[in-house]
Amino acid sequence: MIVRPMVDQERIVRELEALAEFSDTPKPAITRILYTKPDLEARAYLKGLCEEAGLSLREDGLGNIFARWEGSAPKLPAVGTGSHLDAIPYAGMYDGTVGVLGGLEAIRSLQRSGFKPYRSIELLIFTAEEPTRFGIGCLGSRALAGVLSPESLGQLKDREGRYLEEVRREAGYTGHLEEVQLPQGYYSAFVELHIEQGPLLEQERVPLGIVTAIAAPATLRIDLEGVGGHAGTVLMPERRDALCAAAEIVLGVETFAKNSGSINTVATTGFCEVYPNAVNSVPSRVRLEVDIRDVEQNRRDQVIRNIIQGVEQVCIRRKIAYNVEIINIDPPAKASSEVLKALVASCSEAGVRFKLMVSRAYHDALFMARIAPTAMLFIPCRGGVSHRPDEYASPEDIARGTYVLALALAKLSLTEDKTAPKEESVPLSD
Ligand code: GLV
Ligand code: MN
Ligand code: MN
Repeated sequence: MIVRPMVDQERIVRELEALAEFSDTPKPAITRILYTKPDLEARAYLKGLCEEAGLSLREDGLGNIFARWEGSAPKLPAVGTGSHLDAIPYAGMYDGTVGVLGGLEAIRSLQRSGFKPYRSIELLIFTAEEPTRFGIGCLGSRALAGVLSPESLGQLKDREGRYLEEVRREAGYTGHLEEVQLPQGYYSAFVELHIEQGPLLEQERVPLGIVTAIAAPATLRIDLEGVGGHAGTVLMPERRDALCAAAEIVLGVETFAKNSGSINTVATTGFCEVYPNAVNSVPSRVRLEVDIRDVEQNRRDQVIRNIIQGVEQVCIRRKIAYNVEIINIDPPAKASSEVLKALVASCSEAGVRFKLMVSRAYHDALFMARIAPTAMLFIPCRGGVSHRPDEYASPEDIARGTYVLALALAKLSLTEDKTAPKEESVPLSD
């Protein structure tokens, strides 16, 4: 069957721009934190677009949004696509949103072309891929994959000490958390479209990346407690300054990653909270959050052990009490060969050159891969820049990625149910 999706490039760009209006910081900086006003407004905007496209909507108790284009075999596992709408503080307007609006436009482009899905095609808008509010990334997809139990979800506290349970209800999400996990076999395939967030596609002038694996992320929370006091009167030999200990730890994080033996190890101390954070007061408490990743799980885990040992050594020497909490320590994900095949076939059908590549950033696909055959499509972004206001992807690249995504969704939607009994195995009556 020949499918020719009719992608409306101007429309996606218009919608991306409309979405960028929902932000807590002035443009071009986008800040859209889970369950804040801009997040809820962005969700409402997207739900409106999905309804306009005739998709049926469902939301779970965490706020994951499912928008389904029903196929002629509605009982078969559906084909999923989607990404996230939330944005870290001072981010750009393409991270996540390209996969949400691109996924929706892929569906609309198939509708326009007259395509009739066999398996349903479903757009999934994940709750909080970014860790900003609750300190843990991929909140929605983790819960969908059953990696975070309903109990641990309920116990999560945000930076202000408010429980997830309370804030989700306030945002209007009152459904049972026990019902968030998706059953195995809910999706027959899942494809996430995303900007690369790195420089390779642009440098190599390749318009599309097909992601074969996603690197393994981990996060540590390090709490340090020393002794505070007056910055003028506590003499230097008496000090137990928590921020000085933190400074040594931050440099240790950098050194351990640099010395891992591979350029693929990265570690970042991106969060530091100081108490009381006053120029004339010795810091008594510090909280650090450290992000460590590698495509090789064992090498990443060795760096984590080194960091923890380093914290211990610094704190003993400086007489600082400490606690290290592992927030998440996830394995890498491998793409499904079936979904990869569909993506490769779609690229050749579209006449688009592609590069097979690894994702160093994490994505909701990391968790979807646990419950569904999954792969990702990357489009280039200017200078490889992401998580910054100057993040940019060109309309042509977005439309091309959307076109290939639409072809792949169409192919995956037409796949047979392998578990269904074959006709010849039905006994004939005589
Ligand atoms: C996703 O936002 C990541 O930090 O990789
Ligand atoms: Mn991001
Ligand atoms: Mn993202």
